[in-house]
Amino acid sequence: MATKREHFGSRAAVIMAMAGSAIGLGNIWRFPYMVGEYGGAAFILIYILCSFFLSFPIFLAEALVGRRTHANAIGAMNKLAPRSFWTILGYLSVITPTIIVSYYSIVGGWSIEYFLKSFSLNFGEFRPSGWTPLIFNTVFLALSSIIVAFGIKGGIEKFNKISIPLLFVLIVLIMIYSVNMPGADKGIEYIVKPDFSKITGRTFAFALGQSFYAMSLGMGIVITYSSYVHKDENLVASGVGTVLAALMFSVLAGFAIMPAVFSAGIAPSSGPGLVYQTLPHVFTGMSASSPWIASCVAALFFFSVIVAAMTSSISLIEVGVAYLVEERHMKRSMACLLVFVVTWVLGLISVFSIEAFGKVDAFSSNFLLTAGVLLVVLFVGWKMKKEDVREEITNRGVINNKVFGVFYFLIRYVAPITVLTIFITNLVL
Ligand code: PHE
Repeated sequence: MATKREHFGSRAAVIMAMAGSAIGLGNIWRFPYMVGEYGGAAFILIYILCSFFLSFPIFLAEALVGRRTHANAIGAMNKLAPRSFWTILGYLSVITPTIIVSYYSIVGGWSIEYFLKSFSLNFGEFRPSGWTPLIFNTVFLALSSIIVAFGIKGGIEKFNKISIPLLFVLIVLIMIYSVNMPGADKGIEYIVKPDFSKITGRTFAFALGQSFYAMSLGMGIVITYSSYVHKDENLVASGVGTVLAALMFSVLAGFAIMPAVFSAGIAPSSGPGLVYQTLPHVFTGMSASSPWIASCVAALFFFSVIVAAMTSSISLIEVGVAYLVEERHMKRSMACLLVFVVTWVLGLISVFSIEAFGKVDAFSSNFLLTAGVLLVVLFVGWKMKKEDVREEITNRGVINNKVFGVFYFLIRYVAPITVLTIFITNLVL
């Protein structure tokens, strides 16, 4: 069954979809804390350098593979390097996101639960595992799969085009409220005050790891989404738009979260603890003076987390769905149902044990992701023909060639060495 492939409708749609994948839990629960702990503005500077000199070229490398082949991750590798070692990259690119969405959606589920609890402000103790999380996980995963079932234009593009601007509006509103709380200046200082003494080799490794995760690299997402990008679209421009959107959102999230945390006199934290333990304390603290406003802020915040997580999980789901539709000739709705069932079953491992959740997260986002990134840079830098790579980046010579030299150098030499170092460090430590 040869189905006609869909395309995103415009550059804005491409950027919104890519930004939707990029903006997620990583920006909300990890980035602000990392900034505060690893040197404030000094860390932000390093993060920007890592984003532009490494994540961005790697993003382009994935994007050109997708756009050149107009195929799902496995199909793309079958087209570019049939029956070779490199097909591993294709399989890895489908397996990693499928594992990630199995626990990512559990977090989406917690957020639905906390959104509902915002109205009573009665959060109680954080219970990450068990039957309630399973129910909310099912709801979240089902909603995400349904959006994907509506297709690229009718589902993914439409959802992101509304969600991403909405997310920016919401986070700015929360930020305005947060920075005006009494004692908020300590939180602002936590994020902006540069401290270069905290910068070490490890800071670079952390910044890079976070920026890979934030850009959704190494897991077939950029390959898959770019396969829906028109031949004459400027990949470099879409890439810059995506990096900037993700970066801006991360910084805004920092200003929305940390001033409120400091104002409540609570020590900052990272990960689930920040969103489902620290912040609920902040919200209940606020309710003493104005319960109505506290409820509103909490509800808006958890709603934002749900939306941010959903724009990411639909990108994770789409990778597997694109594969099933194109390589296994399934109907899109059936493919979504299958991915839903598989990820739901896989999620049972993480939903009943928070230790298992942590292990699956560490394995996929440290090991599998880095392996995927390493393979993709080696593939584009060393296996693909330089002329083919140039053709994609310059749209067959239409776009200025100058960036190409820099890009190619980064992908061929700088990225493999850096990523290999991180990969080995992750294995050893
Ligand atoms: N980029 C997302 C975030 O920062 C995470 C993510 C990873 C999303 C992988 C999709 C795929 O939360």
